[in-house]
Amino acid sequence: MPETNIAVGLDIGTSKVCIAVAEQDASGSLKVLAEGFAHSEGIRRAAVVNINKTVAAIKAAVAEAERASSIVIHGVNVALSGAHVHCIQSSSEISINQSGIVNESDVHRFLEKARANIQNLDINHEIIHVIPQEFIVDDQDRLLDPTGMAGMTMRGSVYIVVGLKTKIRNIRQCVERAGLKIVGLTFKPVALGMAVIKEREKRGGVAVIDIGAGTTEVTLFLGGAIHYSEVITVAANDITLDIAHGLQVDEEIAEHLKIKHGCADSRISSGNEDIVIEACEGYPQKTVQRSLLNLIIEARMMEILELVRDALMASGSYEAINAGVILTGGGSLLQGAVELAQLVLGLDVRIGYAEGAAGGMNRIGAVNSAVDATALGLVAYVYRNNMSGKNSFATSAAVPEIAEPKSKASQGSEDVSAVQEKNVAWKKVVDGLQEWWEKL
Ligand SMILES: Nc1ncnc2c1ncn2[C@@H]1O[C@H](COP(=O)(O)OP(=O)(O)OP(=O)(O)O)[C@@H](O)[C@H]1O
Ligand SMILES: [Mg+2]
Repeated sequence: MPETNIAVGLDIGTSKVCIAVAEQDASGSLKVLAEGFAHSEGIRRAAVVNINKTVAAIKAAVAEAERASSIVIHGVNVALSGAHVHCIQSSSEISINQSGIVNESDVHRFLEKARANIQNLDINHEIIHVIPQEFIVDDQDRLLDPTGMAGMTMRGSVYIVVGLKTKIRNIRQCVERAGLKIVGLTFKPVALGMAVIKEREKRGGVAVIDIGAGTTEVTLFLGGAIHYSEVITVAANDITLDIAHGLQVDEEIAEHLKIKHGCADSRISSGNEDIVIEACEGYPQKTVQRSLLNLIIEARMMEILELVRDALMASGSYEAINAGVILTGGGSLLQGAVELAQLVLGLDVRIGYAEGAAGGMNRIGAVNSAVDATALGLVAYVYRNNMSGKNSFATSAAVPEIAEPKSKASQGSEDVSAVQEKNVAWKKVVDGLQEWWEKL
């Protein structure tokens, strides 16, 4: 079986499941081999509400990525987020080893001590990450990587991410029932930060705002380390629902109006013409005023951004955001979102794509998009933390039906499902072989 050094990221969002498959080349750049997207219906505000639908969406996204890349996916680094995830500021202190030079095992002991400090806090939560924010070796402070420094004691602050065990178990169940191994479970803002923050921005304070379908996540990074994170349960789908209620149209039409004609900032939206909505199923044709549509959109977007501003103020570090604000997620693509964010937050704002230099994310292949940033950040996280391992995420397997697809015109839906079935059978064979090899 050919060995690969491929990594796979899985983002289970409220509106879509996104799989990113990439490998790192010798220069450290990430080459995107394939992406898979599937409509998601089993998630509400980042929490699983329907296991079967979520499993089906994961399988569909995996199948799409496998078809596009001719690899077989076995494992994933999964994003974890949602209102159940909490972050605790803590601290730790250890004596440096006898050589007096900080080594990796000192760092490990430092993090383990921080973990032990809070382990018994709450039996319903589990620790997902212990992320160092700052190391202080004797009196030398603000160190992000202390290894190699001379000293007697090392102390510092850490950011501990904990999530509700039951919610995490639901995510695990969905991924495993989709036939995948969980190689890593990564706090979403950490992955997102790796994807969208540029090296220059890491030196200052930067806020990453992910406006998704069901949640808006606000994360503040100071000096490259995560400092504060908050989940707001109002997001871009609420804009769609407001349009549906306000204009009395169904959600599908409301979504179309938002994406095709909507603008979040009345200062830049022009024209007040009528927008004609195609009649459906015997109903008469309808028109809506563009200004009314945009009024509805602006009101909700304003609310979201005011909540973001409140969260940034609550972090106590609003003044430290000197590098600006990175807006990402599907909601950031709404026309006028950047301009309105600039007004409400009083800061410079840009859209964030998975192109940041952090984590070796010099991206090659696939079109930049604000909706796949998390999945690609998950891949960057794998390489940054040396989690890739040979074949732990995927094996390359030349599946004849996939490698040489028939032309689209001659490929009916029955043919496609036949190919998918063969692909699944092939995957089982490969998985079996891998298991046998591991036992050996
Ligand atoms: N071009 C666009 N213009 C306006 N809105 C858009 C555009 N593309 C996507 N959206 C909106 O973005 C939302 C989906 O964003 P995204 O894919 O980031 O969400 P998600 O990751 O599935 O959700 P969450 O992160 O909340 O779990 C939807 O509400 C969709 O209407
Ligand atoms: Mg999302």
